[in-house]
Formats: sequence, C-alpha cells, structure tokens
Amino acid sequence: MVAVIVLGIETSCDETAAAVVSDGRHVLSNIVSSQVEIHARYGGIVPEVASRQHILSIVPVIQQALDRSGQSWNEIDGVAVTCGPGLAGSLLVGLNTAKAIAFARHLPLTGVNHLQAHIYANWLSGPVPLFPALCLVVSGGHTDMVYMKTHGDYNLLGQTRDDAAGEAFDKAARILGLGYPGGPAVDRAAEEGEHRFDLPRAWLRGTYDFSFSGLKTALMRLKESGQINNVYDAAASFRLAVVDVLVRKTINAARKYRAVNILLSGGVAANHLLRQRLTSLSPIPVIMPPPSLCTDNAAMVASCGFYQLKEGLLHDLDLDVCPSLNLAS
Ligand code: KG4
Ligand code: ZN
Repeated sequence: MVAVIVLGIETSCDETAAAVVSDGRHVLSNIVSSQVEIHARYGGIVPEVASRQHILSIVPVIQQALDRSGQSWNEIDGVAVTCGPGLAGSLLVGLNTAKAIAFARHLPLTGVNHLQAHIYANWLSGPVPLFPALCLVVSGGHTDMVYMKTHGDYNLLGQTRDDAAGEAFDKAARILGLGYPGGPAVDRAAEEGEHRFDLPRAWLRGTYDFSFSGLKTALMRLKESGQINNVYDAAASFRLAVVDVLVRKTINAARKYRAVNILLSGGVAANHLLRQRLTSLSPIPVIMPPPSLCTDNAAMVASCGFYQLKEGLLHDLDLDVCPSLNLAS
C-alpha cells in the first residue's frame, strides 16, 4: 500500500512548527522554531510579538521540514493545520499559510484541534494506542480528562476550574524565582529537593475536574511568610501536590470507564515525576510521547490530520480560526 504523507503546521502559541508525517505514525521531519528567548524578557508570551515572529518564521520552517523529510511537494498528500484553541493572531498565520499551500497545490486541507493533536503525539512512537482510551491532556492552557472511544470520538469528562496544570507550574516558578519557562524549571529544581512542605490538594471528589489555584496561593503564602528556606524542597513539594492529583484522578477515571490504555499528553506530560508515578501506579498500560513530542510541535498535528483525512474530514478555504475551541468540539 502507498503511504499517505501529510504536512502538519502548528502556530497556536509561541512555537512556529512544521512536520512531515507518513501514515500518521512515522515522523519524516519535525521542525520547531521556538520564540521562548524572545518572550523570556517579558516573563510570558506577548501575543502581538508572537504573531509577528510567526510571520517571519513560517515559510523557512515549512521549507526546512520539507527538505529534511526527503519528500518533494509532489509527494505531499494533504495539509493539516491547527485552527484552535490558541492565540488568534498566531493561529491565523498558520491557517492562512496552510490554505495558500492547499490552494496552490490542489491538496486536501484539514483543520485540527490543538488539544486533540496533543493526544495524537501518542501515535508517533511506541505501540499503537488501543481504544477505548482515557486521555489526560495537561498543557499551559488546559487540563482535560477525556474518554476517547475511537478516532474522532471524544468525551470530555472533566477539566480545570481555574489554572491549568502548566500554568500552575509557570506561576510556581515565578513565585520561587526559578525563571521562565516555568514548568521545566520547577521540574529540574524538584529533582534536587525533597517533599518537606505540606501543600493542599483539591480533590473535587465525585468529579473529574481539577483546581490548582489554591495550591498556588498556598505556595505564595509560604513564600511571603518567609517559611521557604530551601527552594528545591518547595519545588519538590509543589510538583508532588500537582502530580498526586493528576495521577489519582486519571487512574480512577480509567477504572470507571474501563479504558484499556491511558494516553498522557501536553507539555506537562514531559514532567519526570508525572511520567514515573502514572506508569508505576496505573493498573493498565500508560502510553506517553517522548518529552520532545509532549510540547507543541507539528508532527502531532500531521498525525491527527492523517486520521481526520482518512475519515473524510476535509475543510475548505473559508475555514476560520477558533481561539476558544474546546477538546470535544
Ligand atoms: O503543550 P504545551 O507545549 O503548550 C500549550 O499548548 O500550552 O505546554 C506548555 C506547558 C507550559 O506551561 C510549561 O511550563 C509546561 O507545559 N511544561 C512542564 C514541563 N515541560 C513543559 N510542566 C512541568 N514539567 C515539565 N517538565
Ligand atoms: Zn500545546
């Protein structure tokens, strides 16, 4: 059978990314141009700066993805692009570029939900995930618990009521003076520390929802009252509080819904303790992408797009961005 080759494009936030993926599984190239250093001086992402940078990077990034893949334009069978959720100005750069390519090359176009794309990072290495799957998507903007019956069939079981898990890590890093981007910094610091501070966990029993703002406030109070004498221990205690809740609630949901696999994804899925604990405590196999495919990239977009194209989910040139798209829409 002839392989189906999809070009993926991702510009939802501060990474300009393009990738070429064969049959939704095999990454032929995966280029990510990060703006992290540009935004670091502001301590967070500045949307206007992000979209202007995407405009500068998008064409060279796509060209590089094609060159590295060893494929020519004639071998590309479809274009998949993130159309939401994300920053409107950033999303528009990727979407308009994808439309131009699809139009010029007469290629099918499919618009991809960024959160669903994160889940598809699990198709890019290791064993093929089995359905039904329980998916935990933990990123900078979202913390979603999702029951996935099959390709394209998502049921949102719960989500955060305030801060997303990644956002909580980013804020903790700011409180502890660990720098930007915060998640990896807290994770690294936590590796050097011990769990010495008791921080609260919001269990929200009877739901699959999450809440991390109380935990952040508790850390802030500790800091303000001068009780943090060791930043590594504080980082370790904070990380454990987040991971405890994520792991226990995910395993409970997987049991209740009789899932056969747990699929971890999103930037926070790169967290060392989350990966370890979920794997060691889960009664069913846990699949997780390698850390480089947990954070934003276009290979996951191409994989999700491959399955959408296979199901006939095509979009035309009036496809628009949807900055507030949720996971199950
Ligand atoms: O999925 P992602 O790359 O972008 C969004 O779609 O939001 O996730 C970025 C988030 C950031 O909040 C970042 O701090 C967090 O993922 N993150 C981590 C780690 N690596 C990235 N959080 C905890 N531990 C990590 N190792
Ligand atoms: Zn993301």
